[in-house]
Amino acid sequence: MKAAVLHERGGVPRYEDFPDPVAGDGEVVIEVLATAVENVDHAVADGTHYASDSMMPAFPAVPCFDGIGRLPDGRVVGFGNPRPPYGALAERTVVAEGHYGPIPDGIDPATATVLSTAITGMSMKTAAGLQPGETVLVQGATGVAGRLAVRIARLLGAGRVVASGRDDARLNALGADAVINTAVSDEELAEAYHREAYDVVVDFLWGRPTEVLLRSLIPAGFSFAKPTRLVQIGESAGAELTVPASALRTSGVEIYGAARGLDGGGMAEAYGQVVSWTREGALTYDLHEANLSDIETDWQRTDLHGRRLVVTMRGQ
Ligand SMILES: NC(=O)c1ccc[n+]([C@@H]2O[C@H](COP(=O)([O-])OP(=O)(O)OC[C@H]3O[C@@H](n4cnc5c(N)ncnc54)[C@H](OP(=O)(O)O)[C@@H]3O)[C@@H](O)[C@H]2O)c1
Repeated sequence: MKAAVLHERGGVPRYEDFPDPVAGDGEVVIEVLATAVENVDHAVADGTHYASDSMMPAFPAVPCFDGIGRLPDGRVVGFGNPRPPYGALAERTVVAEGHYGPIPDGIDPATATVLSTAITGMSMKTAAGLQPGETVLVQGATGVAGRLAVRIARLLGAGRVVASGRDDARLNALGADAVINTAVSDEELAEAYHREAYDVVVDFLWGRPTEVLLRSLIPAGFSFAKPTRLVQIGESAGAELTVPASALRTSGVEIYGAARGLDGGGMAEAYGQVVSWTREGALTYDLHEANLSDIETDWQRTDLHGRRLVVTMRGQ
């Protein structure tokens, strides 16, 4: 079969022949239809993700650990956790029985690959309990997940949406009520954050911008600020930050992980809502659909600017 084949950690996958997967006991071979390439896939391939060694223990190997595909009985499913060295960037892959689930009717395979990214935006409700009318700040709003979060904030009835990013033109195209460019000095950035009070922050950045934000929440005088609820989802600007004790003590900021509220029925409800908006056309996705044969070029692209690279296997 044809596959994107990675020959070493940190390399670039090439479009090559790769041995066809053979299902072992309790496994099933899946014909892959569409696979989204995300930051996490690059991190796993580069060896900078904590799960790199278990997901890609040896080379050559095929990157990407989830996608949309067809089972031998014809059902189209979302699948995850292929058995290494197989991955989702190939015509076929192999997963354990049950490591797949149905995709919703009326949603095409390419769009289905991005539903999980949209779910991160739902954390403003599932983790932080967003109420209609509240003000939301999306940190990293020009990225794939951030753009979806801006749309989801509107759909959830946010009263005001503030978007942060590094590029004025792309920020201004988001349709937010206000924008903040993070590519300025710490002092200017703190001043920009300080112009508004945020009920909920959806944070895809962490690192310096979120550190400056947390410092900016410290009230100027001896007063009790209305606490901001920050949901941590991504770390595009850095894996770590320093938080002064006073920033937590005086601002009352509450920091949640995005997984909060996704137990029990939380995930099903968030997923159902995203699917229903998608079917109605209320939630739209910016995709760059590409052929597997172009993976070597597409893997290295830096000009997608908020569009998700989705590799489709049609007609390889
Ligand atoms: N937990 C989950 O389930 C989940 C799901 C999806 C994503 N994520 C995480 O969320 C984050 C965003 O994902 P994504 O798919 O939206 O990525 P993306 O499309 O690459 O967007 C990244 C965003 O971060 C900004 N950014 C990148 N480096 C920066 C830096 N050094 N300083 C300030 N801003 C910077 C980008 O600004 P520019 O537009 O100017 O480049 C853009 O707004 C990633 O950390 C990803 O792993 C988590």
